[in-house]
Amino acid sequence: MAPQTYTGKDMVAAHTGMNISGDEFIAVIDDVLDALAKHDVGKREQDEILVILYGLKPEVAGI
Ligand code: HEM
Repeated sequence: MAPQTYTGKDMVAAHTGMNISGDEFIAVIDDVLDALAKHDVGKREQDEILVILYGLKPEVAGI
């Protein structure tokens, strides 16, 4: 498959004004990690995704 290009909003534009708290942000990451584990995604890959998602916290929560 050819490389795909993201054409959606950036994270700040998508989430500004939603009043997403830090706890709500972490709850969503927990759900993502549960889904990865359920589908037998490797621990190393789970950790990589955790780091990527957690890095988006300033762009999603508290804005
Ligand atoms: C790392 C975490 C997150 C990522 C990567 C993410 C990513 C996205 C993306 C790509 C969109 C679509 C942007 C577009 O319309 O082009 C979106 C929309 C949205 N996100 Fe997030 N999101 C995250 C966390 C959250 C959290 C924690 C909440 C709420 C608790 C949330 C609520 C929403 C809502 C309500 C929309 C708009 C849906 C709509 O209007 O169609 N997101 N998000």
